[in-house]
Order: sequence, then C-alpha cells, then structure tokens
Amino acid sequence: MLRLAVLVSGGGTNLQAILDAIESGGITNAEIAVVISNNRDAYALERAKAHGVESVCISPRDFADRAAFHAALLEKLDSCAVDLIVLAGFLVVIPEEMVARYQNRIINIHPSLIPAFCGTGYYGLRVHEAALARGVRVTGATVHFVDEGTDTGPILLQKAVEVLPGDTPETLQRRVMEQAEWKLLPQAIDLIANGRVSVADGRVTIQREADGT
Ligand code: GRF
Repeated sequence: MLRLAVLVSGGGTNLQAILDAIESGGITNAEIAVVISNNRDAYALERAKAHGVESVCISPRDFADRAAFHAALLEKLDSCAVDLIVLAGFLVVIPEEMVARYQNRIINIHPSLIPAFCGTGYYGLRVHEAALARGVRVTGATVHFVDEGTDTGPILLQKAVEVLPGDTPETLQRRVMEQAEWKLLPQAIDLIANGRVSVADGRVTIQREADGT
C-alpha cells in the first residue's frame, strides 16, 4: 500500500479527486497518510477531515525562519512514513532537502502543457491568463516529477484541453481542471501505486498492463 502525503494551499479540488478515486477504486494500492497545508484557512483541510484523513497546517508564519519551517515539514513527512508526496495546488517552493530525500517520489500537477506557460511566476490564474494572451488554441495539464527546478522535472502524464472563443482565465481554469487535472492526478497516483512507472535519465517510462491497456 503506497502511503501518500498530499500537500495543498487552497480549495483542494484536486485533493477531492484523489479522495474520490480512492473510494471508488479508481486508485488502488494507495492511501492518504496525511494532508498538509501551509495555509490554515485552506478548504482542502475540511475535505480531508470529512473523509477521516489526518490533516495538519504547517505554516511558515509559525516558525522563526525558513529553515525551521522546512525542518518541520520534513519531520512530518518522515514521521508519517510517506512513499509519495503529491503537490496538489501547493504554493510553497519545495526545499532542496525534500527533493533530495524524496527523489522521484514527489509529483506535481501544473495547469498547462509543459513546457508552455510554466516556471517561476506561472501559477493559478496567471497560467491561464498567459495562455489566453498568447492566443493558443489548445492548453491542458501536466503531471510531472519534481526536481530542483520549477516545473522542470520528468513528465509523467499530459492531457490537452481546447480553448474556446470567449474564454476568460476563470472559465479556462475550470475546464482544464474538469477535463484534465481531476483525471490526470488520480491516474498518475494509480500508475505509481501499481508499480507501472519508472524514471531514468530524466524520462518516465509507463509499463503497459498485461492486457495491453
Ligand atoms: C490547480 O489549478 C493546480 O493545477 C494548481 O493549483 C490549482 C489548485 O486547485 N497548481 P485546488 O486547490 O486543487 O482546487
């Protein structure tokens, strides 16, 4: 059983998709050991509680400096014996020590088709504003492993989503979530939990199932 830590900052709709997939059997061989938020008011914490999942707030504000915050975060992850860290709308830069200790065991969902509209400063609605400003016809979402860079790690899954006439950043964000993010993140976790994903030389290989799917 793969033990997950889901790290969140906001509404937690991606967390909800994971909780639902675990309950419905869309994700097998995985359980959420802990949900961690940097923001005390994150609605994601309520979603975890409603499903009987341990949830904690670890906020940088409660620590003297960044190093102490990072240490507390790592301590919690280690004490929960976590196998995979899932960044589901986590707006904190991941400490290098965490990337090193959990190499190829941290995944992130990003609301664009990487390498478009990613990197420093591209988060939340800004990603969709940039896509609309550039006039792309297709955008989407990406699940990738986390390395030392911002949105630079090995790509695991991507799904395209159409941009429609009259889209605003808000309508586009919603469509990308519904059509891509809420499907891709559970799918990625299920693949990893069932031993079908390997990473080598910055590339991801996904093993097919025995029946060829
Ligand atoms: C999502 O768009 C995700 O791609 C981005 O932050 C948003 C989080 O939404 N990184 P939610 O908290 O899961 O509802």
